[in-house]
Amino acid sequence: MLSKKIIEEIKSKVDIVDVISRYVSLQKVGNNYRALCPFHTETTPSFYVNPSFKTYHCFGCGASGDVIKFVQEIEGISFIEALKRLAKEANVKLELDDTSNFHSLYLRFYSQLHEEYKKNLNDFVISYLKNRGFEEEEIEKYEFGFSPIDSDIPYKLAKKLNINSLRKLGFPHGRDPFSGRLIIPIKDEYGRVIAFGARILGEGQPKYINSYETEFFKKSSTLFLFDISKDKIKNADFAIVCEGYFDAISYHRAGLTNAVATLGTAFTKYHARKIRKLTQNIVLSFDMDSAGIKATMQSLKILLTMDFNVMVVVFEDGKDPDEILKTKGKTGLLNIVQSAIPAEVFVPKALAKKYDLKNSNAANMYINELKEWSEIFKAVPQRNENFKNAVKEILGYDIDFAKSRYFITKGATMLPTLEDMLVYLYLNFPEQFYRLDVDVNLLNFEAQKFFSFVNDENFSFEKLSKEMEDYIKMILKKMENTEIDETFIETIEKKLLERKLENRIKEIDSYLKDATDEEKKVLLQTRMELVRELKKLGR
Ligand code: GTP
Ligand code: MN
Repeated sequence: MLSKKIIEEIKSKVDIVDVISRYVSLQKVGNNYRALCPFHTETTPSFYVNPSFKTYHCFGCGASGDVIKFVQEIEGISFIEALKRLAKEANVKLELDDTSNFHSLYLRFYSQLHEEYKKNLNDFVISYLKNRGFEEEEIEKYEFGFSPIDSDIPYKLAKKLNINSLRKLGFPHGRDPFSGRLIIPIKDEYGRVIAFGARILGEGQPKYINSYETEFFKKSSTLFLFDISKDKIKNADFAIVCEGYFDAISYHRAGLTNAVATLGTAFTKYHARKIRKLTQNIVLSFDMDSAGIKATMQSLKILLTMDFNVMVVVFEDGKDPDEILKTKGKTGLLNIVQSAIPAEVFVPKALAKKYDLKNSNAANMYINELKEWSEIFKAVPQRNENFKNAVKEILGYDIDFAKSRYFITKGATMLPTLEDMLVYLYLNFPEQFYRLDVDVNLLNFEAQKFFSFVNDENFSFEKLSKEMEDYIKMILKKMENTEIDETFIETIEKKLLERKLENRIKEIDSYLKDATDEEKKVLLQTRMELVRELKKLGR
């Protein structure tokens, strides 16, 4: 058994400051040390290490614990795994306890299970793989297997190894979930099988099934092919990260043996930290469908805040490395990697696809979305410059992101809104205003505040709050030189009607959720009529 005493001994023998300083740069402040928290993104350090208590604490995100917890969290590994590493450092001999016994049993089980699956490879599976371009030697090299129809292999094996319950080994149900599927071994960084991916042979859903997570298999920190990519990542000084098993394998087949894949789940900081030990450079190679672009963006945020240099491979929509290798060969795949573009150029391009940039409102939304990214890119001058040039190329004009908040408000409010017009009219020609049928409830919050203020019987302009004063000033400025004529009044009337119709549509939509079928029919009929009316107004 793992005793409390052993754990305490390990904790007392390792230097927490020394361990933590391998991951963050610690600064001494008084008796403590301080750093930027590795567990959340921050710009002012709120992560403290207390060497006398041997603990860490982040006042920003609340992360705290001892050295074991730190290693566990930062590496995305189990308590036992963290303890083992620290024991080694502290030169403390860990007695082979239940848990590590279980770990070796786990590994033995998976290794033997894998052997069984490999034995079951049949001609049908082999021809599936050959169809995907694999040579015999490659089929052996990647150690594919097959789980036969109605397989009871895991259960037979469990019996043989005297294992009572398969639950903790990742088989919680009374059957082999991979039955009838191609087996792809998933290994830990030392090349030991810890789980499987399993693909249907041909079309069908789900295309892939992955092993359940276990104490020794966490998707959020496992990278497929990491074991055989490690050395090359280090030597080539970059890693290629893809989203599919066959994508990573395709790169390897093309000679780019520094490619790894996530397991159909998001790329995480745990994945990133694994790679960070070997290189600071990553080429992201995700699909370019909307899900892939989203995944790329999320990964970029993680990677850039961890100070990686990131390039993005831009595939045509629907293409992936596997497909490129098949159609264009090794050279084709090498070429496409070489034409990867820097993250700071990719981001503005990818975001631009979401907006119709000829429309000024859309352009403002686009710029607004880029603002956050500009903060990320501006840390490195070259990135900042590339980013701005890319944006300029897309928009046709320069954006100063430091000032763009101003630009955005100015841009977004360039066209007078219904609220602006009404406030302006009220201030200049109240009698005209009162001729209109204005339902104040349909106006935005600020305008509502304005009208409730001026309609108060005790109202006087001297009592205006600073905020209200600014609001009025802004409107007067915007409406400067606007003539109040018949057209102006007509425009307002039209906009009021539009607003009313829009509001009724919204109302109907909120009823629709809980309506009976009969009610729905009526509501939808009305909704259609309202939409038609809206269209007639020129929308
Ligand atoms: P192939 O069609 O075999 O070339 O696969 P792909 O790599 O092109 O797959 P895709 O881009 O559809 O998916 C990428 C990765 O997401 C896969 O490698 C799996 O890890 C995961 N994935 C895909 N489909 C499923 C699914 O149905 N279930 C689960 N759990 N994961 C999936
Ligand atoms: Mn594919």
